[in-house]
Amino acid sequence: MAGAESKTWLIVGASRGIGHELVSQLLKRGDRVLATVREPTGEHAITYWTDANVDPSHCITLKCDVLSEQSIDSCVAELAKVSQLRLDQVVINAGVLKYPNHATGVSYDDLAHHLHTNTIGPIVFAQRLLKTDIPIGTITFISSDSASMGSFREHEDGFAAYGASKAALNMMARHMAAELKRKGSSTTILLLHPGEVKTDMAKIEGLDWDVEGQMEPHESVTACISTIESKGLDDSGTFWTWHNKPYPW
Ligand SMILES: NC(=O)c1ccc[n+]([C@@H]2O[C@H](COP(=O)([O-])OP(=O)(O)OC[C@H]3O[C@@H](n4cnc5c(N)ncnc54)[C@H](OP(=O)(O)O)[C@@H]3O)[C@@H](O)[C@H]2O)c1
Repeated sequence: MAGAESKTWLIVGASRGIGHELVSQLLKRGDRVLATVREPTGEHAITYWTDANVDPSHCITLKCDVLSEQSIDSCVAELAKVSQLRLDQVVINAGVLKYPNHATGVSYDDLAHHLHTNTIGPIVFAQRLLKTDIPIGTITFISSDSASMGSFREHEDGFAAYGASKAALNMMARHMAAELKRKGSSTTILLLHPGEVKTDMAKIEGLDWDVEGQMEPHESVTACISTIESKGLDDSGTFWTWHNKPYPW
């Protein structure tokens, strides 16, 4: 088992990119991680996330596809069975970007796909988790700078459905934070823009504008972990960048 000082994290959407890097860094520093992937196979053991010499009991792999309510419910039911589980940190990272997704052209199905994956799945996952008896410290939703109304990114041609799905995620999370505060809950809700990160999502063909300041997943995730851990209940319902700057709504 992890040491007394170590934390327990749940990372939803851990197979690739930022989610994979989160699990890798957390395991390496000695934390205990419950990691979800859409289709677990024998490959999804601890060595999928790190080659470091880490106690295999520090990592549990769970199945979750946020496009399926049944899959969300089954995953939460599995978590509820874990003996004496306390989740210090939950990061709901799963997301999609299907480019292009213009407001004037996106298909009904593609618009729905962005909303289902980036808004509805993450929010329903958190909602179901909050209904269990599992004590939860913080739930962080991985959002995006594309979500901001206050800092609208007019040059982001072809990102309308993606931006709308993350803006809707932000609004739901803000309401979730306010509702939890009214109930006297001790769970913190955060929104986090991870920066422009060189993952599969960032490999977009045909983009006719520059994505500035792209960084490796390692750099983003180190900063994301530090930002998440710097926050407490008074910060619930706030929106941050990876490097701990408040982001405009
Ligand atoms: N990269 C950036 O520059 C950037 C910028 C701002 C925000 N973000 C956000 O950061 C998060 C991670 O993105 P990334 O860059 O790491 O992208 P990525 O490399 O494409 O990884 C996306 C992750 O989400 C998972 N996922 C997708 N659909 C899912 C579903 N229905 N159920 C469960 N998991 C699902 C994927 O699992 P599979 O392997 O099964 O597909 C994968 O693990 C996303 O929410 C994204 O919107 C990224």
